[in-house]
Amino acid sequence: MEKFYFEEPNISRKEDAIAYINEFYDYNSKINGVGGLYRYLDDYEGWLKKLEEDYTRIPNEEKVPARTYFLIRESDSRIIGMINIRLSLNESLKKSGGHIGYSIRPTERRKGYNKINLYLGLKVCQKYGIETVLLDADKENLASWKTMEALGGINIREFIDEHDGAHSIMKNYEINVNESIKNNSNIFEPMLK
Ligand SMILES: CC(C)(COP(=O)(O)OP(=O)(O)OC[C@H]1O[C@@H](n2cnc3c(N)ncnc32)[C@H](O)[C@@H]1OP(=O)(O)O)[C@@H](O)C(=O)NCCC(=O)NCCS
Repeated sequence: MEKFYFEEPNISRKEDAIAYINEFYDYNSKINGVGGLYRYLDDYEGWLKKLEEDYTRIPNEEKVPARTYFLIRESDSRIIGMINIRLSLNESLKKSGGHIGYSIRPTERRKGYNKINLYLGLKVCQKYGIETVLLDADKENLASWKTMEALGGINIREFIDEHDGAHSIMKNYEINVNESIKNNSNIFEPMLK
């Protein structure tokens, strides 16, 4: 069985991380949960510094403290996914964005890997004392909200998000962190390194 783990971004992952983002461009895919890495493709070291600032930030209406991880597959030591976890929410994130953003690289999708990504993310939330996680997804993004539902997410609201003249229907989810981990540990713990 394949095994997975979270790794904090570090300098040894520079090439793999840049290739991760470039794969999204190659496949014309939406990028999410990468801690802004796509803006630092020519300054990976600067991105690592930015992540340090993200960790220790005092929350305000503009920004909140956050942690970013690579999801690594043990067998080939490759970055399979990424996740960005907001450790607290401001009013804006409560309405839209929530605690967690995530992605799986286009060539590794539909293998159940994002469910492992979210399970590991919930374990991080538990460590930081977050009891209820808020998430949202575009209604058209089935893979995203199905991940949330697979981990026990409850659809609490749908709303219309308007931006740049376009609008989309968003689904808001809540996950009880302790319950989700308890109910899903038998599935996911065997897949962790
Ligand atoms: C969303 C994303 C992370 C899902 O990753 P993934 O590894 O393919 O997802 P999984 O294989 O773990 O599947 C999770 C669930 O979605 C379902 N699913 C996955 N892809 C699907 C698709 N294209 N259509 C319908 N359902 C899909 C799976 O069947 C599974 O549901 P199940 O447990 O009921 O069977 C990935 O598509 C991605 O990176 N997208 C771009 C970034 C993004 O949209 N992030 C989320 C922003 S809110």
